[in-house]
Amino acid sequence: MKNLLLILGACLTLPALDGKIFEKCEFAVNAKSLGMDGFRGYSLPNWVCTAFYESSFNTRATNFNPGDNSTDYGILQINSRWWCSDGKTPRSKNACGINCNELLNDDITKALVCAKRVVSDPSGMSAWVAWRNHCKGRDLSEWIKGCRLDAL
Ligand SMILES: *[C@@H]1O[C@H](CO)[C@@H](O)[C@H](O)[C@H]1NC(C)=O
Repeated sequence: MKNLLLILGACLTLPALDGKIFEKCEFAVNAKSLGMDGFRGYSLPNWVCTAFYESSFNTRATNFNPGDNSTDYGILQINSRWWCSDGKTPRSKNACGINCNELLNDDITKALVCAKRVVSDPSGMSAWVAWRNHCKGRDLSEWIKGCRLDAL
């Protein structure tokens, strides 16, 4: 039993080496202070819900897309084909004007600023598959429940 607990403990601490995992409310506070609540008509819980389903709030999440050889980066899984440059994606547009690695920082300011650029395109938050599949048109109040947002 003691050994099992030690192993469990080791597994639970390992992800810390792999970037910062935000708490739900911690992400909500950061997103609200950067003006995401209501930006382009999307309330704050839309961003919290999307970040959860895209990355589980993990700033270091990356996922390769074999279809076009692009990669999704960071807490909001922003794509290298259109939004950032990673030096290996064919015909990258880099509309956010940043290196994709900057989207993996523990400080999510750059990821959120780039997300504002993404959502400013006509498709809005439909750019995020996770938003379409899990957040769009739902009651999202649980995503900011219990968060201290009033002072922001
Ligand atoms: C993706 O990369 C592979 C291996 O380099 C290449 O064969 C393929 O043509 C690329 N696909 C696209 C859409 O660029």
